[in-house]
Amino acid sequence: MGGLAVEVKNVSRSYRRAERTIDVLRNLTTSLPSGSFTVLTGPSGAGKSTLLHLLGTLDRPTEGEILYDGRSLVKASDRELASFRNARIGFIFQFHHLLPEFTALENVLMPTWIAGGRENADRAKTLLGEVGLEHRLDHKPSELSGGEQQRVAVARALIMDPALLLADEPTGNLDSHTSLEVFTLLRTLSERQAMTCLVATHNEVLARMASRHLAMDDGVIVSATVT
Ligand SMILES: Nc1ncnc2c1ncn2[C@@H]1O[C@H](COP(=O)(O)OP(=O)(O)OP(=O)(O)O)[C@@H](O)[C@H]1O
Ligand SMILES: [Mg+2]
Repeated sequence: MGGLAVEVKNVSRSYRRAERTIDVLRNLTTSLPSGSFTVLTGPSGAGKSTLLHLLGTLDRPTEGEILYDGRSLVKASDRELASFRNARIGFIFQFHHLLPEFTALENVLMPTWIAGGRENADRAKTLLGEVGLEHRLDHKPSELSGGEQQRVAVARALIMDPALLLADEPTGNLDSHTSLEVFTLLRTLSERQAMTCLVATHNEVLARMASRHLAMDDGVIVSATVT
């Protein structure tokens, strides 16, 4: 089951503020091939997070549509979007949003509990092993370093075997060494599982390490490079 092929077609997102309309994304068109690993850069306010929210079905375009393996979700209900999202999409954010009362293992299992499916503790342990935390299963987030917390968040994002992984400044909060570790981990896992992956980052070093690079400014893609 490879990664989702994603096509963004003429997508705009505007916000109404009193009398004004703010156009945050402007007629944006791009695509993420199945299994590709892409970095998204651009100045603060360019619209990166807005685009990730739309791709993740957390928000809807004002105009245009996004196709997932050729399928449009424009007419999908909120409930249909939520079940699509939970089954197919993984998220990693700058701040890990781990639940403080739960252990690393429990945090990784949380999406399976929310989905109401069978919990797979062996799979969660395997994922925590892959991110180098097999010896930290029973630790609460407060007992882990920042990099370790973010690696738990990576494992949690992968527990449902997403076909599309969206990461919004996943290393924004980490030192340069740990950033490189987490980024390399994402890239390796994405390659191994043929998962489509989009990582927004301000880190130019990491951006240069990706074979596909989208640069945004002021609500549009200003360059798309494949090396
Ligand atoms: N709910 C909202 N209402 C009005 N404007 C918004 C709203 N959400 C975002 N914006 C505006 O959209 C623009 C793009 O925001 P976005 O968060 O996508 O930028 P970004 O590229 O992720 O920036 P950063 O690198 O700082 O995270 C900003 O100018 C922001 O003020
Ligand atoms: Mg952002």
